[in-house]
Amino acid sequence: MPDEKNKQTDDGKQEARSKNPDAKPPARRRRQSSKPGRQDEKSRGRQPSAEGKNRSFESKARPVPRKSPQRTHDVKPTVRHVMELKGKRPIVALTAYDAIMGKLISEAGVDFILVGDSVGTTLLGFDTTIPVTMEDMVRHTAAVRRSNPQCLLVADLPFAEASMSFDRFLDSAKRLMQEGGADAIKVEGGRDLADDIEKLVATGIPVLGHIGLLPQTVKALGGYRKFGSVPEEAESLYTDAISLEEAGCFAIIAEMMEEKVATELAGQIIPPLIGIGSGPNCDGQILVTQDLLGLTAKGVPSFVTPYANLGQDISRALGKYVQDVRGKKPKAR
Ligand code: KIV
Repeated sequence: MPDEKNKQTDDGKQEARSKNPDAKPPARRRRQSSKPGRQDEKSRGRQPSAEGKNRSFESKARPVPRKSPQRTHDVKPTVRHVMELKGKRPIVALTAYDAIMGKLISEAGVDFILVGDSVGTTLLGFDTTIPVTMEDMVRHTAAVRRSNPQCLLVADLPFAEASMSFDRFLDSAKRLMQEGGADAIKVEGGRDLADDIEKLVATGIPVLGHIGLLPQTVKALGGYRKFGSVPEEAESLYTDAISLEEAGCFAIIAEMMEEKVATELAGQIIPPLIGIGSGPNCDGQILVTQDLLGLTAKGVPSFVTPYANLGQDISRALGKYVQDVRGKKPKAR
């Protein structure tokens, strides 16, 4: 990432919070489900704390001084380390789906690798991530684990695995860790999943949250778009983020969120907010590696700055090989 971008993302928010009583571990607050019924029943008896009541989305912009970025790769494969990076330096993450990329990406010094269900669109030729299965995720996670990455390895839970029942959710998360070798799992969704995520975390499964654009809901959404441009949606993102914080997520991915909303959210929540297409002021950034390297069949999202054009390089190399072989005269027999 260019220096300028690093500077932009290093905003020293944790330091500001540590001088603020809000920095104490968050008190439990009642989450409001967007699905009436289910969450209400599960959350019965929980009361919002005074602290929670005082933390409204509108009243939270806290400008804080920026610190200069650190240059060392202080990478450790633990969720605690990733959490503690908030406010110290920007967190950097990339996706990988195989052993060679796992090795190269780990050597580049990222803080965590995500084996994303984006494997479906980047490598497997699907139009969306919906067809990706648990078998795909276990196989690709295990491949990246075999590259012995020195950073945290997070595996994505594929479509609908978290929504069917808690037992299915737990079983699938277990498989990603036991068979795939993941250190943690990622799950798309906000307050509706928070109670189950809390139980998962209590079981010993670290969870990376994911809010904003949820690619697994693309069929229901009718396409990809930015989130948080109207106040109700910004408020809803805030509720989702707080629910995931309370559930114990060690970090939260914010995909395609309005920059202003992501900036304010990062300043309000305790877990690091890792942005993708959500502006430079999150606590860190993640990208799909194939987008970064220009190795895609269908172009890249507008927020991605390509750092290479491997698609073009590979085409040239392959074309040259084909020409070289065809151009050789066969030996007289
Ligand atoms: O599947 C994936 O690669 C992701 C990232 C885009 C965050 O969810």
